[in-house]
Amino acid sequence: MTKKCNDFQFQPQSPSILWNHLEENGYYHFSNVFSPDQVRFAQSAMCKKLVHYQRMEHFIQEMIKFINQVFNWDAVFVKYRVSDHNNSSDAGAFHRDVLKYDSESLEPCFTVLTYLDSSCMEIIPKSHKYPHMTYGQALDQFRNNRLKVCLRKGDLLIFQSTLIHRGIFTENLPHRRLIQVFEVFPNQMLYNLFSPHLFHIPSSSTLHKVSPFLDWLYKYQLPSNILNYFGYFNAATGYGYKKKHRSQRTRLLYSNEGSRPRLVPKHKLKHKLRDQEKDQDFLEPGNHYVLEQDDTCSIPEDIKDELRWKQYERQFTSYGAMIFLVLLFLFFFFYILFFRSKKHESRRKRELYYI
Ligand SMILES: [Fe+2]
Repeated sequence: MTKKCNDFQFQPQSPSILWNHLEENGYYHFSNVFSPDQVRFAQSAMCKKLVHYQRMEHFIQEMIKFINQVFNWDAVFVKYRVSDHNNSSDAGAFHRDVLKYDSESLEPCFTVLTYLDSSCMEIIPKSHKYPHMTYGQALDQFRNNRLKVCLRKGDLLIFQSTLIHRGIFTENLPHRRLIQVFEVFPNQMLYNLFSPHLFHIPSSSTLHKVSPFLDWLYKYQLPSNILNYFGYFNAATGYGYKKKHRSQRTRLLYSNEGSRPRLVPKHKLKHKLRDQEKDQDFLEPGNHYVLEQDDTCSIPEDIKDELRWKQYERQFTSYGAMIFLVLLFLFFFFYILFFRSKKHESRRKRELYYI
């Protein structure tokens, strides 16, 4: 059962109290962080799924400035993504933004997000502490520990990147503008310490093709719930993590970019632009990952697909089994229908004959 969390907000007290809450529960919801003017400014950087990245980056700096103030950080982040109701293919089911195959230790790595339209998410509090649950634990958490977090425009949510969460896309909103900043580290020193162990898995071209279909499915309650159920168990039990095959490396983290490609906004390539282009306002496709750090480690191409399969093997196998069962059901349904109509027809023929 999902608990609702409309007013589950704490008044900021001191960085240490906030930090304890973040560490213990895995998230913190700040309400009314941005003024209506600031929200309007960020909204003006989006137009029909296109983004004015230069303007948006000013707003992202405001998000980071707020985080720095309340936690007393000097945060460094790795990448960000701006979407408008078009990110359900990889956010509509429960998932972890960063997954890990080594220990149960906690890394100081966070996701920070702000909605520019009021919307809701679902999270599993404290799930960041259990990156590899058993199926029993996962079922118990799913039944008893889901929490619906409703964010108003201008609110800000920070959570551990390994916390299980998902967006809710069935509310039929005209817009669901969302800015997500990924892999936020409290300072440069912690970034330097952990980033060599954090591998990025760029998106797959096969997933690009199916993502519009998944986006459509996630708008409806029944398919959204079914897909979420499979996604949840895969995420909760650790994305194919096997105790016996535990990696020898310590602190091995993966950030999977799912079905969304990367983009280098044009304003970052000013040295390559012609003079007349430099002062132009660029509107570029949204829902792409924009990388902020030059030294991010990407998984080598030759093992990318193998690793992705390892992570989603159980989920994809479950989808396959579900499709097989549906087809089997349809086959028997139509077979019985056909068989009965045939039987009915022959009985009528026999009756006509005797008449
Ligand atoms: Fe996410």
